[in-house]
Amino acid sequence: MEFKGRDIISLKDFSRKEIDYVLEMAKTMEPIAKTGSDQLQGKILATLFFEPSTRTRLSFESAMNRLGGSTIGFAEAEISSVKKGETLADTIRVVEKYADVIVIRHPLEGAARLAAEFSTVPIINGGSGAGEHPTQALLDLYTILKEKKKIDGLNVALVGDLRYGRTVHSLAYALSLYEVNLLFVSPDTLRMRRDVIETIKEKIKVGEKRKIEEVIRKVDVLYMTRIQKERFPDAAEYAKVKGSYKINLDTLESARKDMVLLHPLPRVDEISPEVDNTTHAKYFEQVWNGIVMRSALLSLVLGEIE
Ligand code: NCD
Repeated sequence: MEFKGRDIISLKDFSRKEIDYVLEMAKTMEPIAKTGSDQLQGKILATLFFEPSTRTRLSFESAMNRLGGSTIGFAEAEISSVKKGETLADTIRVVEKYADVIVIRHPLEGAARLAAEFSTVPIINGGSGAGEHPTQALLDLYTILKEKKKIDGLNVALVGDLRYGRTVHSLAYALSLYEVNLLFVSPDTLRMRRDVIETIKEKIKVGEKRKIEEVIRKVDVLYMTRIQKERFPDAAEYAKVKGSYKINLDTLESARKDMVLLHPLPRVDEISPEVDNTTHAKYFEQVWNGIVMRSALLSLVLGEIE
């Protein structure tokens, strides 16, 4: 399968075959990411982050370093020439001369797609506004596969801010390619975006609920998300839904013994720290799996594995 030179913008652009292939490549990269290699020696990754990030930027950088490559970039727009009024198109036309691959995070939904139009090197979307976060969803899938040994046949609930949360949009697109029973749990004002539901509803059955209690008994995977405070146009609207969901030991009492609890992180108060030591909690495993998945994606788009 040809991934060399490919942009990774939206999981809507991926077939099941392609996702399965990426998951398989991640598996082969796992020991290599752990011990390190010189697979990407001489290659340069640029990280252009116009929005806050801890995991996405650092895990791409860590993956690149582990594979012998190097990284350049900025972690906030304020210190780049964007501050002087440079357009994104110009920034990309410059940075592509410095780097072999670019990861971009931007508050505007169309930014990564636009960057790809101007770039001759692969563009990886590290989060586009409230739109998508494809590499996070791929590492989420990898985690599910690792923990449950399969994806088909699972009951999966996505919980929290399904309107502004970009990880759940990408994850919904990806999961719709599998035979899963997908449940969306959110407050009324934060329901899964209509355009996402329209895209996936021909492929799989989805259900919408309001309360975790309505799904907790039957789910194999519960994917918790943070209410995306910074995306609310109005503070009063945020105040109404703030703290809508809180998973604690009581919530987990009725969960299946082998239920896997995921979260893209950062968490605020939606998962109580007492849950961290339970066998359900896999969100810190997701962090390592992020290194593995990003090692695979960088190697694929740079044509170093196939
Ligand atoms: C997510 C994001 O930036 O969309 N974080 C991440 O990359 N793991 C989730 C969030 O900010 O809530």
